[in-house]
Amino acid sequence: MFTPRVSSFYSVDDFHHAARRRLPPFVYDVVAGGASHELALRRNIKAFNDIVIVPRIGLDTSVITTEVTFFGVKYAAPFGIAPLGLCGLVHPNGDILLAKAAAKFRIPYVASTTASISVEKIADACGVAPWFQLYASKSAELTYQLIDRVERLGCPVLIVTVDTAAAGRRLRDLHNGLTLPFHLNARHLVQAASSPIWGIRRLLAGNVRFPNIEDASQKGKKLPFADLMAMQTGGILDWTVLRQVRQRWSGIMLLKGVLSPADAVFAESIGVDGLILSNHGGRQLDCAPAPISVLPDIVSTNLRKKFLAVDSGVRSGGDVVKALVRGADMAFFGRAFLFALAAGGEKCIDQLINILLEETRNTMALSGILSADAKSRSNFGDTEK
Ligand SMILES: Cc1cc2nc3c(=O)[nH]c(=O)nc-3n(C[C@H](O)[C@H](O)[C@H](O)COP(=O)(O)O)c2cc1C
Repeated sequence: MFTPRVSSFYSVDDFHHAARRRLPPFVYDVVAGGASHELALRRNIKAFNDIVIVPRIGLDTSVITTEVTFFGVKYAAPFGIAPLGLCGLVHPNGDILLAKAAAKFRIPYVASTTASISVEKIADACGVAPWFQLYASKSAELTYQLIDRVERLGCPVLIVTVDTAAAGRRLRDLHNGLTLPFHLNARHLVQAASSPIWGIRRLLAGNVRFPNIEDASQKGKKLPFADLMAMQTGGILDWTVLRQVRQRWSGIMLLKGVLSPADAVFAESIGVDGLILSNHGGRQLDCAPAPISVLPDIVSTNLRKKFLAVDSGVRSGGDVVKALVRGADMAFFGRAFLFALAAGGEKCIDQLINILLEETRNTMALSGILSADAKSRSNFGDTEK
């Protein structure tokens, strides 16, 4: 029987409440907020809440397994940790804490281009090269440098994020006067004073850095941060560029941020190995559909043979099972892990993974789903909207 180690945490919501208490409000807003009126953010949660699973009975649920195999590697569960830039704002060592927990529990972890710790240091700390998420730069040279760098490191999967044609308008950040690179103003410092642990850690660690892109230099010259960020957005990622990235990267390549069946079909035609259906957790296009809602349309394009994952609004192991039932191979959690990181670092991340594992198993048992692996999909129950 599962016994939580920190008695007050039993669900993602519990970590969320703790994160709200422990982070300065302007940092909490970076994590919890979404774009524009936050309609997509709310739509994502509602879409998962509205799905029900019609349970099957009469099965031997003692043999349940949450194990799945992706690209020849066996993982303990059909969920992983999505790429999270700005992780260092929550905790200076956040990227490493998340990556180490993922390695320990054998679940996928995706290092972000805008991680606060270099992908090499992350790999070194946990003894395994992570999946890597790429923001293509306006400079093809910089993009290729980064691709070659993570290929040399042995990252097995490259995830190209395709939903940042423009920067999301995050109103909370605008109201909070947040700029990049971070310059804490008087209001931020007053807020930090009420979160002393966060404040002391930040003070000791210095400014949040983005080593994966800061270290990328042209002829050895470091580029100012604003220039680097400007290179990441702005409609540069057309299908020609995606084809070029596909040709350059010889490993597994996924696109993250696809929501339209037509784009899914096109992605397959350029040789992409799979998709992560995502609206960036409601941080980009506020009128985007919830990815879990469009999943059946994408499945019916017959891309089932390819890897299909979903994120945005996943808040429990029950949501993971809903994603599987609707045809996904796995689901990714974003904010849930930042909440746990803020709530109590390593101990809370471990506990979150244990809770998610327990919730996944519990929902599978009660639904009569014996295996999380797509190969056993015939065991899956029906869903109703
Ligand atoms: C603070 C924060 C930073 C993020 N940074 C990235 C990033 O660097 N690259 C990326 O592809 N997605 C990024 N995302 C989006 C997540 O990868 C994921 O799509 C999203 O968080 C899933 O939604 P959820 O938070 O509702 O689980 C970020 C999300 C948050 C909340």
